[in-house]
Amino acid sequence: MAKTSKGKTVFFCQNCGYESSKWMGQCPACHEWNTFVEEPSAPAKSAGALSRSTGDRRRPVRISEVSMDETHRMTTAIGELDRVLGGGIVRGSLILIGGDPGIGKSTLLLQMCRNLAAAGHSVLYVSGEESLQQIKMRAERIGDMADTLFLYTETNLGTIRETIEEMKPEICIIDSIQTMYAEEVSSAPGSVSQVREATGILLMLAKSLGTSIFIVGHVTKDGSVAGPRVLEHMVDTVLYFEGEREAQYRILRAVKNRFGSTNEIGVFEMQEKGLVEVPNPSEYMLSGRPRGASGSVVACSMEGMRPVLIEIQALVSKTSFNIPRRTAAGTDYNRVNLLMAVLEKRCGYQLGFCDAYINIAGGIRMSEPAVDLAIVLAVVSSYRDIPIPDGIMAFGEVGLSGEIRAVSGADVRVGEARRLGFTSVILPRANEKTAKRVDGIKLLYASNIREAVGYIVGG
Ligand code: TYD
Ligand code: MG
Repeated sequence: MAKTSKGKTVFFCQNCGYESSKWMGQCPACHEWNTFVEEPSAPAKSAGALSRSTGDRRRPVRISEVSMDETHRMTTAIGELDRVLGGGIVRGSLILIGGDPGIGKSTLLLQMCRNLAAAGHSVLYVSGEESLQQIKMRAERIGDMADTLFLYTETNLGTIRETIEEMKPEICIIDSIQTMYAEEVSSAPGSVSQVREATGILLMLAKSLGTSIFIVGHVTKDGSVAGPRVLEHMVDTVLYFEGEREAQYRILRAVKNRFGSTNEIGVFEMQEKGLVEVPNPSEYMLSGRPRGASGSVVACSMEGMRPVLIEIQALVSKTSFNIPRRTAAGTDYNRVNLLMAVLEKRCGYQLGFCDAYINIAGGIRMSEPAVDLAIVLAVVSSYRDIPIPDGIMAFGEVGLSGEIRAVSGADVRVGEARRLGFTSVILPRANEKTAKRVDGIKLLYASNIREAVGYIVGG
């Protein structure tokens, strides 16, 4: 490839931003294949650097002199979004919102802008992807917009920076970072150096003007455009919008948050008029659950402070190949293999000759160890073809000797089961001391998986 005038080029992994002096097939950092792209090496003087030396140099301040209004939060009036942000938008923060194209990032942010503008905040929505008319069309579907919302279609960051410095909006949206370019960097928009430089400039703007800036970053599959992971370390908060395109609901998850917990999730449903909040995710996740089918068990996972009931499905059948097929959708594949090995060793089931497909219904991802027990029970139920009685919920972590270990929040989980009309809960014996009795719920304690399996298939 032709070298630039300076003669220096480097290779960047477009997935994680790993830098290398030569091309590589697989990234040593994130293990993705074919993600390296040649780019001119970063400019010597970065325009976005915070150290931009303007006449008025900042001085160190005593911690007691820092006033707290600077960290004041603005509410988005979307409860689920506020929750994930840690209680609203912190002034002057830089927030990255990532997700697959078409998942609803622009829709969510436009709805947020509508609410913020209606509350009298000045909002600037910069789009490098859609025309003013297209944004307006989307806005019409969502609802009335207040006059303090400004739309701006521009991709040159120098111009955007001037506009922001002039307007000093309270909130600014950059949709998307992959379409923006800084003139100082010679590589194409969407390259690692460009998105990093652009984010650097936005970071400087957010901190110096106190504008809260949301950056949209598309999760990319082909590796030719830098993904949002490249920026995670630069911003204050990283949110990912997940969900399957076909499924109606979307989950907003905080991966990093300097101003709040990263355990919280927000659940939304995509409807005709934009995204609608789902305040009761459990009901939502369990809707359409088959009754009396084998291989289906309800588990409870804690998402932040909130318990969410989910249905675990297993399909175990005799394999027709030498090597059994195993898949795990929505949960960790290795964990499933481990649990099946424990089940084989401790309960004597011949699972080595079986294909097994594990699925968390609804396409949600759950990795809390407390769902172990439900996975084990679902596998047994499918293997023996014995349906699990209605009204049973199970949670508990499973160890290598088949023991069931205590989990946190047993009370809250049992409470959620009660609220949704369950009648029995299988839970770790080790939680006996902490779990309080709840009227209308039978607590079935188990200290190992054999005991737990006994509750559902009678030994
Ligand atoms: P969008 O916000 O454009 O996604 P992103 O910015 O993450 O790429 O979402 C686009 C999808 O949402 C598109 O498939 C249409 C759908 N949609 C609705 O179903 N209802 C609506 O009211 C809106 C605005 C979009
Ligand atoms: Mg968009």
